[in-house]
Amino acid sequence: MAQLRMNVQAPIDRLFAERWSTRAFHPDKPVEKTEIAACLEAARWASSCFGEEPWRYIIADRFADAESWNKVLSALMPKNQLWARHAPVLIVAVAEHTFSHNGKPNRWAEYDTGQATICLCLQAATLGLVTHQMGGFDADAMKQHLAIPESMHVMSVTALGYRGEVEALDADFEPIESASRTRKPMQEIVHAGHWGQVWQPPAGAGWEARYQETSVERLPWFHHGLDADFEQALAQLELNEGDVLDIGCGPGTQSIALAKRGFTVTASDISRSAIESTRLLAEAEGMSIDCRVDDVLDSKLTAPFDLVLDRGIFHCFPDPVDQQAYLTTLKRLLKPQGILLLKCFHKDETGEMGPPCRYDESDIQRLFADGFELIEAHNTQFQSTAMETAPKALFCIIRKK
Ligand SMILES: Cc1cc2nc3c(=O)[nH]c(=O)nc-3n(C[C@H](O)[C@H](O)[C@H](O)COP(=O)(O)O)c2cc1C
Ligand SMILES: C[S@@+](CC[C@H](N)C(=O)[O-])C[C@H]1O[C@@H](n2cnc3c(N)ncnc32)[C@H](O)[C@@H]1O
Repeated sequence: MAQLRMNVQAPIDRLFAERWSTRAFHPDKPVEKTEIAACLEAARWASSCFGEEPWRYIIADRFADAESWNKVLSALMPKNQLWARHAPVLIVAVAEHTFSHNGKPNRWAEYDTGQATICLCLQAATLGLVTHQMGGFDADAMKQHLAIPESMHVMSVTALGYRGEVEALDADFEPIESASRTRKPMQEIVHAGHWGQVWQPPAGAGWEARYQETSVERLPWFHHGLDADFEQALAQLELNEGDVLDIGCGPGTQSIALAKRGFTVTASDISRSAIESTRLLAEAEGMSIDCRVDDVLDSKLTAPFDLVLDRGIFHCFPDPVDQQAYLTTLKRLLKPQGILLLKCFHKDETGEMGPPCRYDESDIQRLFADGFELIEAHNTQFQSTAMETAPKALFCIIRKK
C-alpha cells in the first residue's frame, strides 16, 4: 500500500484513506471511457434531497475532445492550470437549483452535487485513478465557454487521471505533494448530544488503526531485539530477574527480549492488534508472556511489578490529566523501590513526525517529582529497525519512592 502520510483517529476502509488530491497527473495516459463511465455511475447513485439528483456533469477529455478540454483548462485559475494541464480529463460539476416537482429553490442542490462528486472521486480511487477537485475557476467564463444555462451553478472542476511523476511538477508543488496530510481532530468537529460538548472517540482507536493498516516491521518504532539503552540500564542496575511490565508493548519485541533474559513478562497495550502481534511473536519464539489489552490511563492490571518499561508511551500524552492518570497507574503498579525505564522523544527533536510531547531532563524531573526519584537521564536516540535516521531521544531511570 502507498504511504498514507496521515494519522487516523479510528480504523477506516483503505478507500477513504487512499483518496487524496494529488497535483501529479500522468500527462500521456488516457482514462478509458469505461472508467469515466464507472465514476459517473457512482455519482449517479448518490442520495439527494427529494431524490432530485440536481447534479449535472460535463466531461472534457483531452484525448477525445481537446477543444472542450482547452476551454475548461483556460477557465481555471492560473495556479490550478499549472498542474491541471497534465490531467487527461476535467469534469465540470454543475448544480440545478430548482426542484422539478414544485419549481421552488432547492437549497440542498449544492450539498447533493458535492455528495455525488465525492462518490465519483472514491470510485476513481477504487480503479487506481487519482482526482483533484477545484473551486478555483472563473464561473462566468466556464458558463460561456461550455454553453451552460445561466440558471445553473457551476460548482467544481475535478481533474481525473493516473498518478504521474512529482518531479514533473513546478518546484513549488513538490513539498505539498509529500507533506503529511492533516485534519482537525475529531474532538474539534464532533459534538456529543448538543453543541459545545466534546464527543470523544474511543481511547486507542487511532493506535488500533495504525496497527491494522501497517505491518509491525514497518512501524517507525519497530526495533528488533532489546533497545541498547534498556540493555545498558539492566546491566547497570544488575537486574536480571523479576516481574516486568512492558506498557504500550506495541509489536512486542522488547517483551520477547526481556522474557529471553529470564524476566517474567506482562505485555500490555491499548491496541488489540498490537497485543495479537506480541502474542504471535511470543508463540513463534516459544516464550511465555502474559499479553493484556489494557489502557495505561485506566489500567485494570493488578500485579505489582519490579520493573516497568516505557518505550514511547508517556510522550504520547500532552494532556496533563492523562499524564496524571499515567503517574497514578505507575505508582499503583510498581513495587516500592520499583524501577521505571522511560524512553521518550527529546525536546531537541524538531522533526514533524512523531509524538506530540518532547522532553528534556528537567521536564521529567518536574513531571515525576511526586512519588518518584529520577536516578539518571541521558540524551540518546530512538533506535528503530524500520527508520534510517533515529530521532533524538531521552532515556531515564526512575525509581518509585
Ligand atoms: C470544493 C473544493 C474546491 C477546491 N478547490 C481547489 C483549488 O482550486 N485548487 C486546489 O489546488 N485544490 C482545491 N481543492 C482541493 C483541496 O485543497 C483538498 O481537497 C483539501 O486540501 C484536502 O486534501 P485531500 O483532498 O488531499 O484530502 C478543492 C477541494 C474542494 C472539495
Ligand atoms: C511508540 S509505540 C511504542 C511501542 C513499543 N513500546 C515499542 O517500543 O515497540 C507506543 C505504543 O503505545 C500504545 N499506547 C498508546 N496509548 C496507550 C494507552 N493509553 N495505554 C496502553 N498503550 C497505549 C500504542 O498502541 C503503541 O503500541
